[in-house]
Amino acid sequence: MASTISSVPFTGTSEQEAKLKEIIASLKDVPGSLMPVMQQAQDIYGYLPIEVQTMIAEGLGIPLEKVYGVATFYAQFTLQPKGKYNISVCLGTACYVKGSGDIYEELKKRLGIEEGGCTPDGKFSLNSCRCVGACGLAPVMMINDEVYGRLTPDAIPGILAKYKD
Ligand code: FES
Repeated sequence: MASTISSVPFTGTSEQEAKLKEIIASLKDVPGSLMPVMQQAQDIYGYLPIEVQTMIAEGLGIPLEKVYGVATFYAQFTLQPKGKYNISVCLGTACYVKGSGDIYEELKKRLGIEEGGCTPDGKFSLNSCRCVGACGLAPVMMINDEVYGRLTPDAIPGILAKYKD
């Protein structure tokens, strides 16, 4: 399960906060506004850290637990930011039978994060995905838009080292 508290420091700006407050003010008295507010908050910040959940709870006058419950229940919400380099390992059938599970485990070990997590420096985030249409290259992972195929766990350190800053 993805960890629910981000290890990346929150860096929201006052502009983002003002935007969120405006949205909350416009939807506050509309029934069922929690989901739309959360969706728009995620659009603003890219994810829903506890600091943003707290602003939503206070703004709508509802318990933080309720916001947190919704944020963790629905897959559309993410509590972790995306890293500068987002790694997505294909766990589709063709890749899986060729060992993409081992690739995924190697990345978790090397980066010290779990599925959906982000390294504390904000550099790498790690996710899995389904078939990306490159089965001939299985096992496959993507780093942002770059596709890496025919991977072995041994190749991982060299690939990560290419992303220096
Ligand atoms: S199953 Fe991984 S690219 Fe198709």
